[in-house]
Amino acid sequence: MKTEALIGAALLAVASEAVPTVDTTYPYTGPEVPVGDWVDPTVNGNGKGFPRLVEAPAVKPATANPTNNVNVIALAYVPQGMNIHYQTPFGLGVAPSVKWGTSASALTNTATGATHSYDRTPPCSMVAAVTQCSQFFHEVQLTNLKPDTTYYYQIPAANGTTQSEILSFTTARAAGDAKPFTVAVLNDMGYTNAQGTFKQLNQAVNDGAAFAWHGGDISYADDFYSGLLACQDDWPVCYNGTSTEVPTGDYPEGYNTPLPAGEKPNQGSWNGGDISVIYESNWDLWQQWIQNMTSKIPYMVLPGNHEAACAEFDGPGNVLTAYLNGDKANSTAPKAELTYFSCPPSQRNYTAYQHRFRMPGQETGGVGNMWYSFDYGLAHFVSMNGETDYAMSPESPFIKDTKGVAKEPLANQTYITDSGPFGKIDNNDYNNTKAYQQYQWLAKDLAAVDRTKTPWVFVMSHRPMYSSEVSAYQAHIREAFEALLLQNNVDAYFSGHIHWYERMWPMGRNGTIDKGSVVNNKTYTTNPGVSMTHIVNGMAGNIESHSTLDPKKGVLPITAVLDQTHYGFSKLVVHNASVVTWQFVLGNGSGIGDELTLIKKANSSGSGSGSPTTKNGVAGQQAPLAFTVVSALLMAAWYLV
Ligand SMILES: [Fe+2]
Repeated sequence: MKTEALIGAALLAVASEAVPTVDTTYPYTGPEVPVGDWVDPTVNGNGKGFPRLVEAPAVKPATANPTNNVNVIALAYVPQGMNIHYQTPFGLGVAPSVKWGTSASALTNTATGATHSYDRTPPCSMVAAVTQCSQFFHEVQLTNLKPDTTYYYQIPAANGTTQSEILSFTTARAAGDAKPFTVAVLNDMGYTNAQGTFKQLNQAVNDGAAFAWHGGDISYADDFYSGLLACQDDWPVCYNGTSTEVPTGDYPEGYNTPLPAGEKPNQGSWNGGDISVIYESNWDLWQQWIQNMTSKIPYMVLPGNHEAACAEFDGPGNVLTAYLNGDKANSTAPKAELTYFSCPPSQRNYTAYQHRFRMPGQETGGVGNMWYSFDYGLAHFVSMNGETDYAMSPESPFIKDTKGVAKEPLANQTYITDSGPFGKIDNNDYNNTKAYQQYQWLAKDLAAVDRTKTPWVFVMSHRPMYSSEVSAYQAHIREAFEALLLQNNVDAYFSGHIHWYERMWPMGRNGTIDKGSVVNNKTYTTNPGVSMTHIVNGMAGNIESHSTLDPKKGVLPITAVLDQTHYGFSKLVVHNASVVTWQFVLGNGSGIGDELTLIKKANSSGSGSGSPTTKNGVAGQQAPLAFTVVSALLMAAWYLV
């Protein structure tokens, strides 16, 4: 590894709760910088006119050849305040700061914070474009702010950067504030196929969305090698070099630039990766793409599987094993041998994710960007980690690789996506979810909710508990958390991971459909302690395209609505203490793909319990239909599009 050089000013502090640190017991033996373009493996492109996509930085530099620049600005809530996160390729030489005030013409206050960094591979010193690289991450918090108040802020120039424009944000409403609000909920958003979603999201921000809530799989940086692997069976659209035409999809104009003579169609730009053919550049470009939103409203994130490491699996011929383990491009290996140590150290164990965002775990008893909660008006929002830190989690800690016997696994006992634990596990009892800090925190957090102030409680993790696409991880996350969420009267559980939109009927434990809480096909009532609404919201769009249901398996009776063809995001509108609505906003601009109204059960304070079969509806609403599993299935069929 020769990428440890951190150019610029000294690190001031490490503000991230990035635990545990990356393990380097075994050496990394791959290329210095893995580039998913074997025609030109340099980080800056081939110089022949073939464009690697660029995205405008958050701050337009004042000079033609800047030596440093603020490329990303991202907001996130902290209790009674806001964390202003910004990114530069090089250090600032001073503590990061923000000028702020309640008037754009009087930024009379200055807040300072701390900087953290990591061994980005490649380091920004190797990237020619200063405005397309981030390696230093600055956190400045404004606290003790008034709720529901607009503040103005400006990031001053330092060590070659240009000062930002005067920007603004509005603080969260106090818990109990009864005014309606809208949240943009999205999951699984890369760049390819997400252009329509991006447009509609920006519209939602302009229309006054309070914040965005992105439930994991953020940027698809780890698909940098997509042009090198053959398509997977479950990728309906894929880039495997078989055509010089851009496949059907939703692309920015730059993707249509013809390849220069001599370049192979499966390598570089639109033929590989999501935005870039380099893991870290995918992150940079994606963050710069969405910074028009993240600099205006809080962008709350939680971890998905795509944030874990530089890659997830090998393809036919085991070309990634040859490349990442043996530094052999355009080659094959006898068997797949990707391990935790196959990625450069900076691309393991959620490192990029830990640095590129700053969520309020520390302030809410959680852990960093991994699990945390916050209030807004009449709702309590909980971001969970569905990837690590519970029994049988999809990504494993080392202690599981060794069955808890040895302290450190051998390299070949590890998996490329091994990660965590990010919290403690009592007595290393990794098969017992209740021994995990995440579970203990969640139990405490939910128990502490004051339902008289925040009658609505919404929980999201990346992994669904249910879907018509059945998978073992769903049983594992149900086993870990479903009972706890039901006991604490959670109203709805949102997820992604599966790249489609799927709304389930309200369900209790083990997929029991709560027929009594179905008012009609677009209206449910809550049923505290008995059932909750489950929605898979993984359709924002990314290079892996949509998921498709195996036609032989069919839609299960648990599913009310399944849309396998449209991209978009969802708007959660909290109207008052009794009614919320959920709308699937189609990315193609043609309107609403699905709509659900969720009504608080009459006379419910959120702390009671009821029977799944005795519910009689809510005053003013149509009485519940006598749904059966068969009729539910028929309804699902009507809604298949
Ligand atoms: Fe995922």
